[in-house]
Amino acid sequence: MKNIVILTGAGISAESGLATFRGSDGLWDNYKVEDVASIEGFEKNPELVHTFYNNLFLKVQKAEPNEAHLAITKFQQERKDLQIDVVTQNVDLLHEKAKSENIYHIHGRIDECVCLNCGHIEKRKGDFHFNMPCKKCGQINVLKPNIVFFGEMPMYMDKVEKMLQQCDVFIAVGTSGVVYPAAGFVQTAKYYGAKTYLFNLDNTENNFFFDKQILGKAGETLPEFLADLSKK
Ligand code: APR
Repeated sequence: MKNIVILTGAGISAESGLATFRGSDGLWDNYKVEDVASIEGFEKNPELVHTFYNNLFLKVQKAEPNEAHLAITKFQQERKDLQIDVVTQNVDLLHEKAKSENIYHIHGRIDECVCLNCGHIEKRKGDFHFNMPCKKCGQINVLKPNIVFFGEMPMYMDKVEKMLQQCDVFIAVGTSGVVYPAAGFVQTAKYYGAKTYLFNLDNTENNFFFDKQILGKAGETLPEFLADLSKK
């Protein structure tokens, strides 16, 4: 065993009090995805999109990492001989707060905005508004949350593809397996010979690609599994 890829989704942050997208209290229940998570929605009403992510940022700031996040950090600290990469679909920063390393936010991050004119990435201090000028080029009406919207290409895809081809163990935690390309990562990893594990509350759309499904709350199931894996 040398390379481990841990893919995380909204479910790993549920026990930290952050809503998932498709659960009963789902984020998408109160908003239309097309309004706040698509390029068309952003073009139609950029200020609504900024308001959505301004509010999400306040919630994320108050959240603390849970046992599942901390177990990943512990595993990385115990096994520095392994390459343990965290590929997250989450825009929250709980993996960072848990002091994990090798984190790849393939759907972007809540604490950044990107300038559509010059590409400058701005760190968020508070609310962003569409008419705020870009600090680099000075243009207004060009700032977009640095979030990958539906229809946009996720980030780090070349690097993730290489990780999936080389990984010995692929672990998915708290993701419903309905949004591609992330939902297809398990197939790639399996094709290249990885052992694949699913940690989720319940079975997912793509659960048959996993060698083992460990159902339950990730905060309870993941620590024990990683503690065992760490001894291998
Ligand atoms: N422990 C483990 N799994 C959990 C927990 C928990 N405590 N709570 C919820 N889950 C599971 C749910 O059963 C569900 O299958 O987490 C999954 C969350 O699924 P989604 O809400 O669809 O979130 P995610 O898979 O991350 O969504 C993928 O879709 O909307 C886009 O860009 C957005 O990154 C997001 C992507």
